[in-house]
Formats: sequence, structure tokens, C-alpha cells
Amino acid sequence: MTPKRVLVTRHLPEGSLDPLNDAGFDVVQHGETSPLTPDELSDEIRRVDGIVCLLTDRVDRRILEAGAGRLRVVANVAVGYDNIDLAAANDLGVAVCNTPGVLDDTTADLAFLLILAASRVMSDAERDLRAGKWTGWAVNQYLGQDVHGRTLGLVGWGRIARRVADRARGFGMQVFHHARRPSGESGYVSELDDLLRAADVVSIHVPLREDTYHLIGPRRIGLMKPTAVLVNTARGPIVDEAALAEALHANRIFAAGLDVYEDEPNVHPRLLSAPRTVLLPHVGSASVATRTAMGRLASRSVVDVLCGRLPPTLVTV
Ligand code: DGY
Repeated sequence: MTPKRVLVTRHLPEGSLDPLNDAGFDVVQHGETSPLTPDELSDEIRRVDGIVCLLTDRVDRRILEAGAGRLRVVANVAVGYDNIDLAAANDLGVAVCNTPGVLDDTTADLAFLLILAASRVMSDAERDLRAGKWTGWAVNQYLGQDVHGRTLGLVGWGRIARRVADRARGFGMQVFHHARRPSGESGYVSELDDLLRAADVVSIHVPLREDTYHLIGPRRIGLMKPTAVLVNTARGPIVDEAALAEALHANRIFAAGLDVYEDEPNVHPRLLSAPRTVLLPHVGSASVATRTAMGRLASRSVVDVLCGRLPPTLVTV
């Protein structure tokens, strides 16, 4: 019997592909330095039973249709799966898997790093120091907002949001959360607008869907306190970047910490020049251990599907 063939769209950290290799699959690894183009992907996908892909690979209907007949599973090395056309995968009987759970703490660490760094205007301070513009200690310099004693409003109440809440409580913050469905837990706020009005720090932890696109736009940014800090480690298009940039330039909110952008790797030029804004290049889950665990989980899911077992993380429409 010919071995199952699996395409891995980029080089992953060492050990990530062990489950595929241990299963004796034929593994085709691609793109050490550059991603596959859509045409290359739709060409490769015809010859494989499964793919391990990244959030930068757009796996749309055209690509999935190219694999129709042979392709049985797409495993995304990410918890978010907005890069995959779930409806098309469902129509074509292709299983979609993601990597929840293994990146929660690492991503929550990064979200809290942004909460601290944005509240304490770290990027402005560090930028000046590196540019030789620091003239010495001054009493009115780089005055930020304290984190202890302030309120954190979490938009979303999934695994990562809960880990951010743990960290926030440890830093003496009071934590609220908003979710589509009542959580039944203390701190639940049913109206997002109420949470935005009340929170000193707002951190976003919802997936990108049609109903979360520009969830935080000009009207909602306008509800936030002038001293508020907005942090986004989820997906860029959940926040209207142009509106956020204008609010920061006009001092309508205090600061922002962003790890994700509407059109990655491009960043809105008004955000690049915005004051009190910490900008990171989508590194939420970027630790060696976590990225390896994500790769292994995606690989294991492919093995399970191709061996006729239920994978650990099946995404449903
Ligand atoms: C995810 O898993 O969706 C993250 O954005 C990757 O860091």
C-alpha cells in the first residue's frame, strides 16, 4: 500500500513532524524562507492526502477544490482558522483541525506583556532612548497608567482570555468579561458597550468571524475612557485600525498594544506613527516550546484523520 502523503507548507520547529514521520507517512515539506504561492499550493494539494498549513496560507474554496477526491484533512498550526474556508471544506468532506489549548499560556503572557508595555508607554520610552533622545531622568517623563488597581475588560471568554484574567488578578486588577453567551461566572457583562465604557484596559480574545469584523470601530472606541488602553492579540480585522490610529493621534484613548493587523504584514501608516502604541509582529504564540507543541498537535491531527480516528481538535462549521 502506498504511504499517505502529507504536505507541510513551511519548515516547522524541530520535532513538530514526529507524529507524521512515526506513522510512516510521506512528508513533503516546503518553503523554508517563503510561503507557497496560491498557484503552487493548488498544484501541490492535488497530490496529497492531508496538509499541515499556517495562518498565512489562504486555503480557500479554489485550493480545496483542487485537492478534491484525495485531500482529507487540513490542519492549521494556529488556534485561529479564519484563513480556511470552513464551508468549502465541509462541502468537500475535508476535516479541518486547529491547535487550541497548547498556546494559551504563551499567548496570555504576550497579551499581558502588551497590557503592561502599553499602559507604561514603553515603546515611546525605549524608542527615545535608542535614538539618543533621552536627556536624563525627569519627573514628568513617560508617565503611564498603573495596571494595579485598574479594571480589565476581556472581550471574549475562551481559554486565552481566562489565562489573561489569571495574570491580571495576580497584578491586582479587577477583571470583567463579555461573551456572546452568558458565562454564568462572576464578572460577566452582557453588553459589550457597557464593558468598553467601564474598563481601564480592554483586551480582545474573540475569533475573527463575520460578526466580529471591525467589532471595535469608531463608535465603540468613542465609548472608551480617555485613559483606556486597548490590546489586541486575536486577529487584526476585529479592530478598525484607521479608527484606532485616529483615536490615538487625537488622544481620545490613552494607549494601544497590538500583535495583529488588518493586512499583515502591512501595518497602517497612521498606527506606525501613533503615540503610546506598542506594535509587535504577530508573536503571540512564539516560544520554541509552544510552536513545537502546535506543530506536533497539527501533525497528530492529520495522522488521526488519515488513520480513520477522531482527531483531538476538529473544527466544525
Ligand atoms: C493563532 O494560533 O491563531 C495565533 O495567532 C498564532 O500565534
